[in-house]
Amino acid sequence: MRRVVLLGSTGSIGVQALDVVSRSSEQLRVVALSAGNAWEQLVAQARRYGVRRIALADPDAAARASESWTDGEVLSGPDGLVRLIGESGCDLVLNGIVGSAGLVPTVAALGEGIDLALANKESLVVGGELVTALAEATGASIIPVDSEHSALYQLLASERPGTVDRLIVTASGGPFRGRSSAELADVTVEQALAHPTWEMGGKITIDSATLMNKALELIEAHHLFGVPYEQLEVVVHPQSIIHSLIQLCDGATLAHLGYPDMRVPISYALHYPERVDVPVRPLDLVELGALTFEALDEETFACLRLGRAAARAGGTAPCTLNAANEVAVHAFLAGRLRFLDIAAVIEETLARLPTAQVHSFDSLADADAQARRVAALVAARTARSA
Ligand SMILES: NC(=O)c1ccc[n+]([C@@H]2O[C@H](COP(=O)([O-])OP(=O)(O)OC[C@H]3O[C@@H](n4cnc5c(N)ncnc54)[C@H](OP(=O)(O)O)[C@@H]3O)[C@@H](O)[C@H]2O)c1
Repeated sequence: MRRVVLLGSTGSIGVQALDVVSRSSEQLRVVALSAGNAWEQLVAQARRYGVRRIALADPDAAARASESWTDGEVLSGPDGLVRLIGESGCDLVLNGIVGSAGLVPTVAALGEGIDLALANKESLVVGGELVTALAEATGASIIPVDSEHSALYQLLASERPGTVDRLIVTASGGPFRGRSSAELADVTVEQALAHPTWEMGGKITIDSATLMNKALELIEAHHLFGVPYEQLEVVVHPQSIIHSLIQLCDGATLAHLGYPDMRVPISYALHYPERVDVPVRPLDLVELGALTFEALDEETFACLRLGRAAARAGGTAPCTLNAANEVAVHAFLAGRLRFLDIAAVIEETLARLPTAQVHSFDSLADADAQARRVAALVAARTARSA
């Protein structure tokens, strides 16, 4: 029986992870759950799964949860999350938190030597070098949940070092594939949230529409697999059937295929190294008929270009990129920025903040806070001038 702490259990990844757990009651047991502020949903999940400890990032939400739920303990804030992990006696933490708020629990889990099923790609974008060094030092494993990275993890498992020439990550292209900049000027939040192949939380869905998600995934892959950026590629594949590919030195290319369903990589990460049944449709190639591929349009989708540049710059640049993106996406979702302003806010924030070296997690927290302040000012000015 594997004891699992599920962080971000009220979100898209969290709810699907609970679905996976409920089908594996012989192998998996949830011992703690967490959310940001959705306390009623969290308490309902705790009751349903017999969990005795929960944590909420928002102290007000935590206070309300403690008043209404007396069957267990409610922890609060980032320290509460750290305690939830450290005191749980768990074997695995699934981090399904959105944004750089996921970094602290990632560090807490790895620091305790606890294996981490990682959906929170921002942890690696912000603190990749330090996070992977910490995992190495404590011997904890990071098992990716992102579908592309889960595919790569599986594809790379049996390859010897030095035999893999390139890793290729696919991108659906999002809802605005094929559009020009002029056609993106007036797109609405609703249109940006209508992803063609995946159902996900709001932030990652907007990241998919701007293609920032692919930039974040390149940085994630670089850190997870220790591969230089020159060996990482993205190809647009609108059907989202092939999740990733690897090209080998003998001319062979291996691919991982399946219908888009996050329960597959979630189940893989929760059960690793075992595989169990997941109730998904087997792939029907004849029904699919054709799989298509296109080059990326980096001129129109500037976030990808900005992400690649920040990745190459290293140091605090990916942290700044991520923080500015979170601020800009939040403002777009709230109707304060237009779609193309997201890239503009990130570009100006990166230009205003010089890249520094990263010495510690504290220096990353400072860089994150500073980038959020600058991005908020740039976003407010951009919104006023619109
Ligand atoms: N969804 C997918 O299919 C998918 C696929 C690949 C990778 N990912 C990655 O997985 C992560 C989660 O994505 P998602 O789509 O599941 O997001 P989501 O639906 O927005 O859920 C996010 C979860 O994080 C919690 N949360 C929000 N802010 C928090 C904070 N400051 N501190 C602690 N918890 C907080 C939320 O709680 P509340 O409900 O209270 O707000 C919720 O439980 C992201 O990093 C994303 O890039 C997602």
